[in-house]
Amino acid sequence: MADLRGIAWVNGKITSLEDAQVPFLDRGYFFGDGVYEAIKVTGGKLFALEEHLERFERSMKEIRIPAPKTKAEFSAIIRECVEKAEIPDAMVYLQVTRGVGPRMHAFLPKAEPMVTLFVSPMSDVAEVVRKAGVTCVTVADERWAHPHIKTLNLLPNVLAKQTAEEQGAYEAIFIRGEEPGGGLVTEASSSNVVAVVDGQVVTPPTNGSILPGVTRAIMIETAREAGIPVIERDLTLEELRRAEEIMVTNTGAEVLGVRELDGIPVGKGETGPITQKLYEVFMEGFAKRLS
Ligand code: PDD
Repeated sequence: MADLRGIAWVNGKITSLEDAQVPFLDRGYFFGDGVYEAIKVTGGKLFALEEHLERFERSMKEIRIPAPKTKAEFSAIIRECVEKAEIPDAMVYLQVTRGVGPRMHAFLPKAEPMVTLFVSPMSDVAEVVRKAGVTCVTVADERWAHPHIKTLNLLPNVLAKQTAEEQGAYEAIFIRGEEPGGGLVTEASSSNVVAVVDGQVVTPPTNGSILPGVTRAIMIETAREAGIPVIERDLTLEELRRAEEIMVTNTGAEVLGVRELDGIPVGKGETGPITQKLYEVFMEGFAKRLS
């Protein structure tokens, strides 16, 4: 049985995660009409909270949900819940939906945005996995035109991750189009993608086709500070297939090496030296961004 330890905050009411309940008529349930954030907690401290709350505000604005709270208010609620949860290594999941009311597609003039949050345990990637690297498969990117918004509409991501799991892989990497070079790498089902191609660290740009990952942005910053330039440009599937190293980045896994793509070893078939270095400098920056 899944670990249900943790606490939930549902429009102001704190309960155990197991007992949390939301109204049946919430538009998140019917339409995926909402946005979310996932934030890492390490030793009871939050990583890059400000960056997550900024993206959360942008997401609400993009889908025209009036922000029900200020960043300072969200921050206070999150901190209260992290303290109450007493789980040192956890994830905070924060969500806002357009609210509750009769099931009609267009906005409901009277609906108030619904805020929910939970804190639940999240462990770090095991050292042996980090050293060995993970496996990935490629899938067609069939998502809508705005994957830069962190919405609840994750069905293509869910199906992609399931495809990966069924092939024993950790992640599914989305490929958009079939142009010369075999289409473009966008991101993965719940992470961003970075590759080392001809000695250069390359990652697809934040041009609306990917979620601007908080981990990705901080990885780019810490890498540049360490004298490793990261080039944001289109990355083709053909380049990914011949990359010396591949990595995925996200809130839970930080910077994680990929050892195999579609069943073929990447580089030496383990986490490569540049990935390892980028992970190390990221973790130095990580410690500085805990609050
Ligand atoms: N997902 N791309 C997608 C599609 C994602 O869902 C995520 C994160 C990322 C990485 O973003 P960040 O570095 O800010 O975590 C990229 C979270 C972890 C989730 O859905 O649970």
